[in-house]
Amino acid sequence: MTDPTAGGPVDSLARWLVYVHPIWMVMALGLCLVALRAGLALRRAHAAKRPPPKGTRALHLRVAKPGVLLVLTGFVLGPLSVAWFRDWTPMSSFHALLGGVAAVLFAGAGLQGRRLEAGEGDARRAHAWLGGAAVVLGLTAAIAGFVLVP
Ligand code: HEM
Ligand code: HEM
Repeated sequence: MTDPTAGGPVDSLARWLVYVHPIWMVMALGLCLVALRAGLALRRAHAAKRPPPKGTRALHLRVAKPGVLLVLTGFVLGPLSVAWFRDWTPMSSFHALLGGVAAVLFAGAGLQGRRLEAGEGDARRAHAWLGGAAVVLGLTAAIAGFVLVP
């Protein structure tokens, strides 16, 4: 199936399913932006050697974990969606390239975040830089993704 506008019940379902990945990613990046904001508050408190605002660490963990998981699952949904509903080769777009780099950065931030959560303080710098870069790349990928929305 290459043309979601061709008509028929299967095609009209496909016409809706192409929106799953974009909507999924808007939610995922929203959570990651909240996580970054809380992370930067933690960073400022740490640099000033004062305790972070109450609840900031818990908020960071509560939004960052689902945020990163949604980004990584959404990253798999993207090329599947292209394979099923579109007429180009999966992973061949500029959006896919940016998305691939973003996904690696998000995975790295998540792994370093788990170390940090377990009390390994030397993961802090890497976690902060990976997380910040991941969000920037994720937003750049989003811009390149909106032009692909049918
Ligand atoms: C969108 C993804 C994420 C971003 C942008 C992000 C960003 C940050 C930033 C900027 C800091 C402050 C580091 C510093 O003090 O220099 C931080 C701290 C931290 N992050 Fe993340 N993070 C993300 C995901 C995660 C995940 C998935 C986890 C856990 C699995 C996690 C666990 C932590 C922990 C434990 C801290 C230290 C909290 C403290 O100071 O007590 N982060 N994060
Ligand atoms: C709001 C943000 C985003 C929008 C609007 C968006 C939009 C899209 C669209 C429309 C497609 C084509 C799928 C189809 O129509 O069947 C796509 C594919 C894809 N997206 Fe996104 N996307 C967004 C964020 C992301 C992010 C953050 C990543 C990576 C972490 C990502 C990774 C991918 C990948 C790998 C593909 C497959 C591309 C290909 O095979 O050429 N997307 N995206």
